[in-house]
Amino acid sequence: MTTAPNQSAGMALLEWYDRHGRSLPWRTRQGEAEPYRVWLSEIMLQQTTVAAVIPYFERFTARWPTVEALAAAEDDDLMTAWAGLGYYARARNLLACARTVAGQGFPRTADSLRQLPGVGAYTSSAVAAIAFGERVPVVDGNVERVVSRLIKLGVPPKTAVATVTEAVEAMLPDERPGDFAQAMMDLGATICTPKSPACGICPIRGWCAAAADGSALDYPKKLPKRAKKTWHGVSFVVAAPGGRVLMRKRPPKGLLGGMLEAPGSAWGEIPDNPFAHAPLAARWSEAGSINHVFTHADLTLSVFTAQLPRPMPVKGCEWYCAQTPVATLTRKVLTRGLATLTPEP
Ligand code: ADE
Repeated sequence: MTTAPNQSAGMALLEWYDRHGRSLPWRTRQGEAEPYRVWLSEIMLQQTTVAAVIPYFERFTARWPTVEALAAAEDDDLMTAWAGLGYYARARNLLACARTVAGQGFPRTADSLRQLPGVGAYTSSAVAAIAFGERVPVVDGNVERVVSRLIKLGVPPKTAVATVTEAVEAMLPDERPGDFAQAMMDLGATICTPKSPACGICPIRGWCAAAADGSALDYPKKLPKRAKKTWHGVSFVVAAPGGRVLMRKRPPKGLLGGMLEAPGSAWGEIPDNPFAHAPLAARWSEAGSINHVFTHADLTLSVFTAQLPRPMPVKGCEWYCAQTPVATLTRKVLTRGLATLTPEP
């Protein structure tokens, strides 16, 4: 029989973290963290990997070193700086949140942080624990996996939030709650990984029911998969001399809200007449298609291109430098379109 997770397990994990925790640009010793950097990193890390976040975090903090500086940023500058990181509602909420707290500082408890735009259950507890030392359980996807294995949770962790939270609470040491939270995340990211858990070197294997009988890979139990949709659409890449390309801004709400895109059709059924969605009359060349994976849908866009002799006005669109930072989907479309145009003489 293994012992159920308790504070001794939490202490063993902290000891491991002191030796093996990852060194990341937003991390400091407990008690020395800057709330702005903690909050910014936690928003960026929602749905995004540590490796993808690091360069964005470095650029943001160099350009906007305080929450006041960020609050004063232009919306478009912030969206451009966020381009490529995905889930763009986060960027709009980031700015709304910065403008709310600028000048008065971040609230210091999970409950009050939770009132801020874009700050949900996970982020509020992570910031409270890491930046302010509040002794609260922090549960993200990594932690759900670790706990599911520790207690051999027989149901998907999202359907047993109270049980998962209780297990984390039982382990929470009296001190260093932020380090403990990050230790759980690091354990999940480096040892208790989804496909190849290294139980042999796990610092808390003595408290793990799944490690005891070699069943770690059976956990966490999965939610039934939602059927994925397939969307189609058409995009038009229009180029003009001087490295210019025609783009428009997507509506503020919804997928890629407020981001630049090449003009084209809505996404859904295959368009009957692709050229009905063209931004202007031109001699179009076919440039093939690109695929993009969203959380709930796979999108295929057929790309057409045209080269204009000069950047003329087009309703609802503007001309941009082709190198302007854009969302990954738009970058794929532009790359595909521009590659098929003959280079300028
Ligand atoms: N994922 C989300 N927050 C994190 C953090 N503070 N450290 C490592 N991974 C994380």
